[in-house]
Amino acid sequence: MHDTLLLFGATGDLAARQLFPSLLHLSVDALLPGGFRIVAVARQPMSTEEFRAWLGDKLAREAAGSDAVAALLACVEYVHVDLADAAAIAPALAGISGRCVSYLATPPYLFVTIAQGLKAAGLLEAPSRLVLEKPIGSDLASARAINAALDACLGEDRIFRIDHYLGKAAVQNLLALRFGNTLLEAVWQHRWIESVDILVAETAGVDGRESYYADYGALRDMVQNHVLQLLCLVAMEPPASLDADVLRDEKVKVLRALRPFRADGVGTESVRGRYEAGLVDGEPVRGFQLQAVKGREPVETFVALRASIDNWRWAGVPFRLCTGKRLAQRVTQVVVNFRPTSHWLFEKPRRERASPNRLVLRLQPSENIELELMSSLAGPEWGALQLQPLPLDLSMEPPLRRRIAYERLLLDALNGNSTLFVRSDEVEAAWAWIDSIESAWRESDAPILPYMAGSWGPGAAADFLRNLPTSAERARAARTA
Ligand code: BG6
Repeated sequence: MHDTLLLFGATGDLAARQLFPSLLHLSVDALLPGGFRIVAVARQPMSTEEFRAWLGDKLAREAAGSDAVAALLACVEYVHVDLADAAAIAPALAGISGRCVSYLATPPYLFVTIAQGLKAAGLLEAPSRLVLEKPIGSDLASARAINAALDACLGEDRIFRIDHYLGKAAVQNLLALRFGNTLLEAVWQHRWIESVDILVAETAGVDGRESYYADYGALRDMVQNHVLQLLCLVAMEPPASLDADVLRDEKVKVLRALRPFRADGVGTESVRGRYEAGLVDGEPVRGFQLQAVKGREPVETFVALRASIDNWRWAGVPFRLCTGKRLAQRVTQVVVNFRPTSHWLFEKPRRERASPNRLVLRLQPSENIELELMSSLAGPEWGALQLQPLPLDLSMEPPLRRRIAYERLLLDALNGNSTLFVRSDEVEAAWAWIDSIESAWRESDAPILPYMAGSWGPGAAADFLRNLPTSAERARAARTA
């Protein structure tokens, strides 16, 4: 395991909310090596003592205890440098040597400059590694340029592109369910599956991130990475092993089989929306602030897409993808809708009211997996047989503490296991599909429909939201959290 972590963007939101808390929990669980060292790098001038005080405040919110926080802070030192100046990086890091993992929690326009600075400092020599946060570029051309420039600094096998959705326990359980059982694989195809719904609904808005978001919008911020990763794990062929490249080869095949969007299909295949002022959880919130980003192309905060995968397994099966900010509830789920039975025998419920089987994988707000089967209703043993949908709970034992997705991924990066990281060709194949949507929208002048914050998005998207969790389902998921 590598024992020095260089964390660039150390004073940013991601570092404070996810990365340092993850490191704290890994340290409490004794999963970090003895003598582990964290070099926090950012542009704000500050001493190590000042940085530790700032970080200590942030970590005080974690349920880990002050001794644990103090132990982690003792491993941290702070270096300030202008991250946009490659020539300044090497001298600033002059005291560091040995096997390092450099984590770039910075905007993508800094990736290449920082990598070049690290190379000049000799900190990218094998076996050192580089970890990158999403987004890698903002379209296919910029992603290719970043990948090519990084390739000149170090080998692909030492570049770890993070998609934190791959660190979520429910996502790993999807792999276990699909490939650890014979039952599901036999029906995992167009003959038995009617459609798949992937929903990532957030109540949070984009306040404070307007500038980043104005360049991305929901399509590039969420669909290009998290939503497509979920789609890949549902749709990919069984890999021959869990070897990083074998698994990623299968994901790339799915991305390349996605049917590109065309301007003449935009009206039926996609909906774009942008939230206006409204109420979220009873609190008034303002609309997406256009004035903060004037001069730029308008972007959507909601997107719904009907994706088609043109291969033998999925021909004719719609994948309805939907994500949005400031929606009515925070829900992330994948629902696999099986086809109805070919013949219906029962009086109750009547055929049209019978529920086809569903596999529901919930990731947020709590994680659980249910397979919904029809079962006979308990009651008198005489009279017509009555059926009802019954959820079979396939969740893992609830852990003592729900891990932050980044804990798993940080540990994998330190250990050099890249199975749950995204390869350069995967990123590029995803951007190629996203670019087809962006250009279809541009060509057809696709409207961005307004929706009220706290609603379920524009009315035109209702078809994409047919599997919203009922209150009973939410309560069940919360019990297994
Ligand atoms: C990030 C996006 O990658 O994922 C954010 O940039 C989004 O806009 C976040 O809010 C969602 O992550 P999670 O784990 O809260 O669903």
